[in-house]
Amino acid sequence: MDLFEHQAKELFAEYGIPVPRGVVAHTVEEARAAAERLTGRVVVKAQVKTGGRGKAGGVKVAADAADAEGKATGILGMDIKGHTVHKVLVEEASAIAEEYYFSFLLDRANRTFLAICSAAGGMDIEEVAHSTPDKVAKIPVSPLTGVDRARGREIAQAGGLPEAALDGAAEIIEKLWAVFVDEDATLVEVNPMILTADGEVKALDGKVTLDDNATFRQTEHESYADKAAEDPLEARAKEKDLNYVKLDGSVGIIGNGAGLVMSTLDVVAYAGETFGGQKPANFLDIGGGASAEVMANGLEIVLSDPSVKSVFVNVFGGITACDAVANGIVSAFKLLDERGETVTHPLVVRLDGNNATLGRQILADAALDGVELVDTMDDAAKRAAELAAVGA
Ligand SMILES: Nc1ncnc2c1ncn2[C@@H]1O[C@H](COP(=O)(O)OP(=O)(O)O)[C@@H](O)[C@H]1O
Ligand SMILES: [Mg+2]
Repeated sequence: MDLFEHQAKELFAEYGIPVPRGVVAHTVEEARAAAERLTGRVVVKAQVKTGGRGKAGGVKVAADAADAEGKATGILGMDIKGHTVHKVLVEEASAIAEEYYFSFLLDRANRTFLAICSAAGGMDIEEVAHSTPDKVAKIPVSPLTGVDRARGREIAQAGGLPEAALDGAAEIIEKLWAVFVDEDATLVEVNPMILTADGEVKALDGKVTLDDNATFRQTEHESYADKAAEDPLEARAKEKDLNYVKLDGSVGIIGNGAGLVMSTLDVVAYAGETFGGQKPANFLDIGGGASAEVMANGLEIVLSDPSVKSVFVNVFGGITACDAVANGIVSAFKLLDERGETVTHPLVVRLDGNNATLGRQILADAALDGVELVDTMDDAAKRAAELAAVGA
């Protein structure tokens, strides 16, 4: 998960990293009030999870509160590389003497962590890295030794920072390493890290990527989630621990195992071409277990997508054999009935693998409304696409 700049800076501040005072505003009025509180010159900054905001006109200096209101009027609602600006950060304007670049990141290719530092920071760092790579120091960091103040100073020196900035930069680098490790980040970037006219070093921008695989031990990270940007169905699926991705077709897909589900998407898209371009409505992998409850939750999510017209349940029995999955489907129908969520669209089921015959028998005996058994994956995909076309 990427953080907004203001979230990154709040996190930096918790670790004692100097950042400008700032207030988040969602409306023009809030932006004016924020500027009044901060007093003096402020900077109005678009909060979107993409870089290059400055170049896109999303970062503007304002002389006073009235000017901040005007700048916010221009920035709120702006589109920056496909991201709509819903909020701005109003912060005190810093007197910048110099702009540097600094980041810690996970260097997957070289299986190490990396510190990147350059005295030529700011909005043109990509160009600097491209045309004068010598100006950008790249220093591997061992997770065993980490980065202390002295190492931070060496990194700053390697990046070519001037003597006047070394102490301040070393302190920030040491603290950024703590952010990187303690928060399970895969990236912390400060561009620009600035030296002010009064000789202070500060983080003027912040980009943080948190490792979602660490969510289980970083429970407070949940508060950073951008609920407004999430697909509502995907959010509900996440609450139920389902591996669900919303797509834009009409054939709901439920399968066990990510590989099988991926190939099911392909087969359905292919079969759908003969039926007016029907496509898969989602990816949903219910995993190995496939209990009645998981199946019920899966069906509930898939069927609550209004574009779904038919559902293809594609299961290959392995450790969880087909009879268990078939019983799961039967119980899921009962569970959904009890929840008042009767299955309203036809279901095409293909069972193969362990105990397939028994599984099919169980479903045949149950004679559930709207459930059809089809033996092969290709035929089942065709049938599901056909039913979606009829239902559409
Ligand atoms: N608080 C601030 N005071 C003065 N100048 C700022 C401030 N924040 C940003 N800037 C200027 O705007 C530029 C772009 O801002 P930044 O936050 O780095 O956005 P982005 O990287 O998305 O373009 C900075 O390089 C800096 O020159
Ligand atoms: Mg920046």
